[in-house]
Amino acid sequence: MKTYTVNELLKGEQLLQQVKVNGWIRTFRSNRFIALNDGSTLNNIQCVVDFEDTPEDTLKKLNTGAAVCIEGTLVESQGKGQKYEVQVERIEVLGTSDPETYPIQPKKHSLEFLREKAHLRVRTNTFSAVMRVRSALSFAIHQYFRDNGFYYVHTPVITGSDAEGAGEMFRVSTLDAKNPPLTEDGKVDFKEDFFGKETNLTVSGQLEAEAYAMALGKVYTFGPTFRAENSNTSRHLAEFWMIEPEVAFLDLMGNMDLAEDFIKSVIRYVLDHCREDLEFLEQRLLQEEKGKPQNERSEMSLIEKLHFVLDNNFKRVSYTEAIEILKRSKPNKKKKFQYIIEEWGADLQSEHERYLVEKHFNAPVILFDYPAKIKAFYMRMNEDGNTVRAMDILFPGIGEIVGGSQREERLDVLKERVAALGIPEEELWWYLDLRKFGTAVHSGFGLGFERLVLFVTGMTNIRDVIPFPRTPQNAEF
Ligand code: 4AD
Ligand code: MG
Repeated sequence: MKTYTVNELLKGEQLLQQVKVNGWIRTFRSNRFIALNDGSTLNNIQCVVDFEDTPEDTLKKLNTGAAVCIEGTLVESQGKGQKYEVQVERIEVLGTSDPETYPIQPKKHSLEFLREKAHLRVRTNTFSAVMRVRSALSFAIHQYFRDNGFYYVHTPVITGSDAEGAGEMFRVSTLDAKNPPLTEDGKVDFKEDFFGKETNLTVSGQLEAEAYAMALGKVYTFGPTFRAENSNTSRHLAEFWMIEPEVAFLDLMGNMDLAEDFIKSVIRYVLDHCREDLEFLEQRLLQEEKGKPQNERSEMSLIEKLHFVLDNNFKRVSYTEAIEILKRSKPNKKKKFQYIIEEWGADLQSEHERYLVEKHFNAPVILFDYPAKIKAFYMRMNEDGNTVRAMDILFPGIGEIVGGSQREERLDVLKERVAALGIPEEELWWYLDLRKFGTAVHSGFGLGFERLVLFVTGMTNIRDVIPFPRTPQNAEF
């Protein structure tokens, strides 16, 4: 007998045939109806047990959470709520589940409660929907780059260069933490360490991706990145996944076009392929928003919001214009912002970014040409000597989703920037080499994968869109 997934059976193609299906019991009611789920779809298949034919002992084990193997006939359902069901002929309980202690009961659990049960929460509709969408998005990302002539590059997770400056790093070391070897002046002697130098988990694959773009032309990385920032927010993880394309002979405007086309393409993919899950998540969001005051509810449903992104051009606004808008804004004048914008050069906080996106433009925004002093050393200096060709993409409800730039390709200018920031040139010798041998205009960006998943699923806490989140004081699983 052939084994089918629930998703396959629900299509009804095996009508009146003998089928086999494995899954977990979501509910068992009236000693007769099993709602079976196997993760292949949001939906359950109803399996009807004839209790007179089923041993008492087996019936007792048909509890929520138990794993079962069912054989039977696929028939049209007489009851409402489903088109097809399985008339059970044989049922085997593969793994029991104690109803007294199984945490995932068939009722609404809070997301906070489920975070404590990260190993089981994917058995709920919400988390299984989120994780299927996450998987589809990740596939769509690879497909987009493949279709557009990019090569996938695996940049290292352990890095010896800590010059990127994107955030605090996690040290990688095999030295004895209690009793490390010391140098003459009492500092930890990393020459004795595994790699003979200080190493860390990477905060970004960009610098290495640049090296590859300068040979393969168009490349991207898609891997885990690590930041030891102590930011306990709903937008920050200590371990997150980042997609970083890097393209030779591409300038900042081309970079913006690429980012916009890329984001739209992956959103289109999930709209086309994850309809059921998105509709479920849309309903979930609606329920959640009912608990909020009217003025905090979003005007658009989840799917409308995704279409809105597809159908509209991202607004491209220079940092300088953005500062003017912010200075004149109501929350700035009424001192409602926590950080009041007084002058050009201020770093934008997420309250400012969200004002621009959600109140002023009401659309995704690409901010570009930032002051050099608030951006990384590798960004291309503009002719004004003050601003760099940086771009951040800001999304409603999320804030910054992409950070990128045209890179400084001129050796002398790059060296000046490195020196001004006090970064020893030796640390970047290989990166500087890229400007000595066949340098060219090039650009790239980093998209925070979980922030994209947040946007697409309508979830509100980044801890709920990655299987096992790592945040300060939290690495249980
Ligand atoms: O703006 P960031 O720091 O840019 C870079 O790392 C560049 N090297 C990228 C490049 O040009 N290749 O980070 C890029 C994106 C952010 O826009 C945000 O979406 C996400 O990564 N991000 C985080 N996501 C979750 N948790 C964190 N702690 C994040 N920090 C950044
Ligand atoms: Mg950034």
